[in-house]
Amino acid sequence: MPDDQTQEHRVLIDPYLDWADAQPVPIVEGYSVDLLDVETKPWPRFGMEGAIVHLKARADFTTLFLHKLPPGATSAPVRHMYEQLVYVLEGQGSTKIDGADGRDIAFEWGPKSMFALPLNARYQMFNGSGREPVVFAVSNFLPLVMNLFINEDFIFNCEHEFPERLGPDGYFEGEGHKIPQPKGPGLWETNFVADVSGFKLEANAARGPGSTSIQFILGNGVMKAHTSAMPVGTYKKAHRHGPDFFIFNVTGSGYSLMWNDGEEDWVRVDWRHGVVFAPPEMMYHQHFNTGPDPARYLAMNLGNRRHPFTAERKKQAAAIGVDVKEGGRQIEYEDQDSRIHRLYLDELAKHGAPCLMSEFMDEQMLLDRMAETV
Ligand SMILES: [Fe+2]
Repeated sequence: MPDDQTQEHRVLIDPYLDWADAQPVPIVEGYSVDLLDVETKPWPRFGMEGAIVHLKARADFTTLFLHKLPPGATSAPVRHMYEQLVYVLEGQGSTKIDGADGRDIAFEWGPKSMFALPLNARYQMFNGSGREPVVFAVSNFLPLVMNLFINEDFIFNCEHEFPERLGPDGYFEGEGHKIPQPKGPGLWETNFVADVSGFKLEANAARGPGSTSIQFILGNGVMKAHTSAMPVGTYKKAHRHGPDFFIFNVTGSGYSLMWNDGEEDWVRVDWRHGVVFAPPEMMYHQHFNTGPDPARYLAMNLGNRRHPFTAERKKQAAAIGVDVKEGGRQIEYEDQDSRIHRLYLDELAKHGAPCLMSEFMDEQMLLDRMAETV
């Protein structure tokens, strides 16, 4: 090894990436990844198969892993000094958590379940089926703690317990409570959502016609999930914010566009179950429903309404749904690139779906804008 590559002489080290490179599993990259099409390999650290997913928009704090458990298999019991949110893509299983407060917690889950694995709580995952594999994605803030402590042993073998992260009885069975908000989307605290596709959402029309959403605080932690839906024949308004948001398509079909301010070219991601993508830092993004059913997504990130964690997250909380012309981060329909509505109408025609924007707003304004720029 040349002198400048010895450990003592290395600079610009990213301990998390060093750790990831040393894992015996594939690392996949991209603006978007189809998680149901990713090769996995045995990952002894977790006692499951896995892969590491590094989306282009991944920044300093969070990462994404994919895990598979064969029929009847059980993962290794692990605990770690990072919070983790789980989204189940396929299969039926259960999780056992050794509660620091003496409680033995066990709960069952299935496709489209989402739940928290609280900070440093020891857990095991079980595939309850004798025939079908289990596939699930996890989002966590291992990069943050690995780059801070630079000590794998501390992160995976710390004995400190955090009973305050487990929540009341029932939180792992889907019970929870609503936290009243003066404005913006509804906020719900729990540890477990049995089926994200069926969770009742609340009106959030500031983000688009008929748009509904709910934000979650899970495991009394700092990570956040939110889910949002668009009615048939509609799309949301474009907006932008910081990085590290991982977005899963939950129901329906459609697409998302992402672009940098002032650039004409878009990055396009088509939606289907299994696809995850992340809008890069301050890149505008906009979501479109082109199917015959409401389209719903689930997003995970670090920093929630209770604990925003960064100044950027506090800014986003204040700017959500606010027009860029008024200092916010959202592009109103009348200000958007006229090609956006044109593309949407073309995509709807391809899928035989009607445009229903006029049921929720003055669609003529969008059509007039298109006509002006032809
Ligand atoms: Fe967004």
